[in-house]
Amino acid sequence: MSRRKDVPAANALWGGRFDGGPSAIMQAINVSVDTDRRLAEQDIDGSVAHARMLAACGIVAAADAEVIVTGLEQVRAEVRAAEFQWSHALEDVHMNIEARLKELIGEPAGRLHTARSRNDQVATDFRLWLREACDRIDGQLAAFQRALVEQADRHAETVMPGFTHLQTAQPVSLGHHLLSYAEAAQRDRGRFADARKRLNESPLGAAALAGTAFPIDREMTAKALGFDRPMANSLDAVSARDFALEVLAAAAICSVNLSRLAEEIVLWTSRQFRFAQLSDAFSTGSSIMPQKRNPDAAELARAKPGRIAGALQSLLIVMKGLPLAYSKDMQEDKAITFQAIDDLELALAAMTGMAADLSFDIKTMAAAAGEGYSDATDLADWLVRELGKPFREAHHVAGAIVKVAEKQGVPLSALPLETMQAVEPGIDARVHSVLSAQASMNSRTSYGGTAPARVREQIARWRERLKG
Ligand code: ARG
Repeated sequence: MSRRKDVPAANALWGGRFDGGPSAIMQAINVSVDTDRRLAEQDIDGSVAHARMLAACGIVAAADAEVIVTGLEQVRAEVRAAEFQWSHALEDVHMNIEARLKELIGEPAGRLHTARSRNDQVATDFRLWLREACDRIDGQLAAFQRALVEQADRHAETVMPGFTHLQTAQPVSLGHHLLSYAEAAQRDRGRFADARKRLNESPLGAAALAGTAFPIDREMTAKALGFDRPMANSLDAVSARDFALEVLAAAAICSVNLSRLAEEIVLWTSRQFRFAQLSDAFSTGSSIMPQKRNPDAAELARAKPGRIAGALQSLLIVMKGLPLAYSKDMQEDKAITFQAIDDLELALAAMTGMAADLSFDIKTMAAAAGEGYSDATDLADWLVRELGKPFREAHHVAGAIVKVAEKQGVPLSALPLETMQAVEPGIDARVHSVLSAQASMNSRTSYGGTAPARVREQIARWRERLKG
């Protein structure tokens, strides 16, 4: 049968049983190279390890393997120099690289794909890529923690209102508040480390789905690529994407944690709070209102969970109900994941920059800490400690005194002793020692509490932990 003129040529790498090439629509929905070219380095690493193993096992000639490896390194150089010509017709990163290898070294290139499939190849590449992403993010989270610890060190003694329901609750140390985010970041690091540990197994050698009849050495390729071991089930090796889901779950949680500090930065830098300022480096102006300084970076970091948690949802739904083993649906995993990791890394960099950049208005914070009867609990505690009252009763008495103070429009510390005694005759002048935001903060010395002495202990612990 003669081929119609308007039908494109069949794919050179898999088109043996095809008379013609794909329609434009087929190619458009199938092509992934614009996305998965980000796996080029990992793909070449995987191919180098595979070629060396094929030679070591006597499956290809040592001389051929040598030529293949040299050719692959040349491809790597072209990719790094941005000289590589990526082709849509060649579908994905794997076939682009193999086709270029063929141009460079000729016949031996065709031996590289022995005992391998794109299915185990892409799973290997993607695991390697995510492993590096986990390591980068861990470094970024450590940098974020360092920025928080530096600020905490400057502000261990700075008093601010602590909130519940965004209502003034009890005075806390600003350093204590900031270190709370360092704790959350540590758990984020744990989640990424945990995902990394589980994903670090090699799918390479699972081939299309069933393994291979060639006498390959999967331990050897696993070791060469820094994997802990080869995956034990070939079907699982090419089908699993839960490793990417785990990283996305960690990323989504991390982005949510970051968004909470982002939100507080938006609040703190507002005219209403005036707790903090961002420098020009992290502020933007308005094109219409000349007076404005907007915390755009904090707002965008606050928005990132929309995209990152969305990515987690996207991949969960792509994977849901997929039968074993490989299905092309899974090609969608990379665009989703790359975007989410890019978003998280940018949010982390921005939050680290802002955490270091913030300058705090200590006076405004202290004044706010003293407002709203934030020392009411201290009064109740005093009644328990000095008069032996049950806490519930003390709470009631303190509430009644707050009510009187509120009516007179004065803080508890400005209330005449007789006024307090009219509510509770046992109260004496010593009560004044607990009625201030500073005293309240200083008194909370329980482990994990906000007393500056405790905060200083935590700063020392963080410094030790974040060393090096
Ligand atoms: N580009 C593909 C992906 O990312 C590679 C695997 C293709 N395998 C296949 N049997 N068509 O999923």
